Amino acid sequence: MNLPVLKDSFGRAIRDLRISITDRCNFRCFYCMPTEAMEWKPKPEILTYEEIITLAEVFVGLGVNKLRVTGGEPMLRRDLESLVERLGAIPGMSDLAMTTNAHFLRGRAEALKRGGLQRITISLDSLTPERFSLLTGRNELHRVLDGIDSAIEAGLHPVKVNCVMMRGINDDQAVSFAEFARAKGVHVRFIEFMPLDNGKVWKREMVIPGEETRARIHEVFPLERVQSENLSETARRWRFADGAPGEIGFINPVTQPFCGHCSRIRLTADGQIRTCLFSNVEHNIKALLRSGATHDDLIEFIAATIEKKEERHHINDPEFVQPLRTMSCIGG
Ligand code: GTP
Ligand code: 5AD
Ligand code: SF4
Repeated sequence: MNLPVLKDSFGRAIRDLRISITDRCNFRCFYCMPTEAMEWKPKPEILTYEEIITLAEVFVGLGVNKLRVTGGEPMLRRDLESLVERLGAIPGMSDLAMTTNAHFLRGRAEALKRGGLQRITISLDSLTPERFSLLTGRNELHRVLDGIDSAIEAGLHPVKVNCVMMRGINDDQAVSFAEFARAKGVHVRFIEFMPLDNGKVWKREMVIPGEETRARIHEVFPLERVQSENLSETARRWRFADGAPGEIGFINPVTQPFCGHCSRIRLTADGQIRTCLFSNVEHNIKALLRSGATHDDLIEFIAATIEKKEERHHINDPEFVQPLRTMSCIGG
């Protein structure tokens, strides 16, 4: 099928839509969610599945071919399986993935896979129960590990595990995560901590450069670079030189920004388009949709919004201003 491709004003093709379907989460990762009672968005403000599908179809018609369902925790939303099935059936789509904390995955991974989910990414920042509890506010490491096993069993390959590295908090676990990748055959990706946290605890000193983590792992398990043709990929990928299964990736948005090849756009659970993780403005497509807009109106709005996509983030500039919304609302 020959579909048009939307390009932003810097010539970047927009191929990847990340859809947050809820701002709620059952965990309280301090770098993402506030620990005190969270003010959830009232239900009428959240896009319905009908609305999500309508928008996803317009985006795919404009050249998006990768969809990722995120949250909050997307598995908290009722009948997720039906949404996944409908997203997977949109003609022109080639990749449907989801980011989850895996707490609710056991027993549902197979149905998601059957419904059209191709891959899954699981957030996990510690492999020891005590540290896991400290980081997430929940003593549920066993459930997450079991969720990872169920994703592997269901064939949601490659199963990716995202670990946000923070100095003094979990950086001593790099080698344990590499052992985990080898034992389970999963892709572990270390992410540099970004200033998107609710508590505004982010400090540059807490960022562990991906290269530092790589050197640590390389000393124990020598790594070889995996070349990828996909320029917009966030992770620099490495395999184990001894041929062990699994992969290690480094997502280094702070020390090695990858904005030049960014193909991503985001839809929040309450119907706002964000053209960058670090946008300070949002574009209210829900209001347009609910005012009875035609398909052409939506196309026009999206094209005009993509024109405004930011060139890059400014984390490393002195005038950097942290966005008001945290990762729990944006979806990762
Ligand atoms: P795949 O390669 O398709 O699996 O997706 P991905 O690399 O986008 O991975 P994923 O959705 O798991 O994102 C991993 C993490 O990378 C996110 O949680 C963010 O922390 C970070 N990330 C993803 N996209 C961006 C981006 O556009 N900009 C920045 N600065 N960070 C990003
Ligand atoms: N910095 C980097 N990554 C983050 N995530 C959440 N908050 C941050 C942050 N401040 C990532 C987590 C999770 C995904 C939803 O977003 O790894 O996998
Ligand atoms: Fe894209 Fe913004 Fe992320 Fe840069 S920070 S890669 S422009 S979303």
